[in-house]
Amino acid sequence: MSEEKKNTVGMSTRSIHAGELHGKYADSLTTPIFQTSTFTFKDSNDIREYTRDKKKRFEYGRYGNPTELIAQNRLADLEGAQDCVVFSSGMMAITTTILSLVHTGDHIVITDDSYKKTLEFCQSYLKRFGIECTIVPFGEYNALEGAIKENTRFIFSESPTNPYLNVFDLELLKKIADKHNVLTLIDSTIATPINQRPLEFGIDLVTHSATKYLSGHNDILAGAVLGREELIAPIRDLHKSMGGLIDPHCCYLLLRGLKTFPLRVKKQNDSALEIARFLEAHPDVERVYYPFLESHQHYSIARDQMTGGGCVVTFEMKGDLETANRFLDSLEMIFIGPSFGGAESLITHPATVSYYDYTREHRYELGIIDTLFRLAVGLEETDDIISDLKKAFDRARR
Ligand SMILES: Cc1ncc(COP(=O)(O)O)c(C=O)c1O
Repeated sequence: MSEEKKNTVGMSTRSIHAGELHGKYADSLTTPIFQTSTFTFKDSNDIREYTRDKKKRFEYGRYGNPTELIAQNRLADLEGAQDCVVFSSGMMAITTTILSLVHTGDHIVITDDSYKKTLEFCQSYLKRFGIECTIVPFGEYNALEGAIKENTRFIFSESPTNPYLNVFDLELLKKIADKHNVLTLIDSTIATPINQRPLEFGIDLVTHSATKYLSGHNDILAGAVLGREELIAPIRDLHKSMGGLIDPHCCYLLLRGLKTFPLRVKKQNDSALEIARFLEAHPDVERVYYPFLESHQHYSIARDQMTGGGCVVTFEMKGDLETANRFLDSLEMIFIGPSFGGAESLITHPATVSYYDYTREHRYELGIIDTLFRLAVGLEETDDIISDLKKAFDRARR
């Protein structure tokens, strides 16, 4: 699609067509899956032409595959990025991106309610290679600026975060980063390119766990990093050595999922807001965290920089651990499990799953109380999700 056309074409159309020309292999309508590890050369002239311009064709699966290239082009188009690399998981995207940016002796800054594994990687693994990491409390912008040193390479944060859906003021982040000449990275998984567009705020790199909304069916793992060409090029080079490739079939499933991406996100935004309002009004619920609820501490930032609140609704029930367990055991349709952004509604109980190995005191310090739940609203009828929650609340009370 030409640049001029791209700006006037809607997200639903781009989710289906962007990054791929008409006239596919064997006139196939859908994207072919190039299930091959190797691409062959016709003759020595073919080899010479390839070495003159390596972008013109493919050589070996770890260096690229046509199905993967189409996914990269399509995601870049949707995020409004110059370039994109697709990975075998969101964590592969995050770790490869970070490793391509840092050298021994560098320092990085990350906010404290980032994804647990991202924090673990920055805090523990990078340390082994002499890279220092400062973790700052989310939303404390003075502390964030104060943490920046001469050798700080970048600031990393999620927005919104997990599970409290805190929203980073991206304009302010950009201002602080520019003042100190450091790069900015945003994990925008929970927002998606529909609800939030960090690159338009001047953020340097955006990562996604494409396992979530982008693929949308809870059936694959995938990840992506997006940004300017000059920043993406070294990430792509390292990716070729790290080998965290998405396999071509998986990539096809990502492309297939993307076809309904805007429809799904819109439905999930609407459903989640209705469910958040239902929960807020429910007598058995103590507190609800949802960025598009007026009661959320970052409501006005969310309204300014996002177009929808997304599918994740976090809430605290009244009662104790036993009440929480009875509630979980009473759900009939909503599955108990991690992840979000897919067709099936899912619920997680951080106290007994992601923080099971923390002491109760440590958990409470982090706000992970016994009755905290993270609901990932799926694509079922909103009324059916509410009805399942209502019945479970009633049973948990007894
Ligand atoms: C915000 C966020 N970023 C990154 C990841 C990691 O993605 P993946 O599971 O695809 O490796 C997750 C996983 O849940 C996540 O929630």
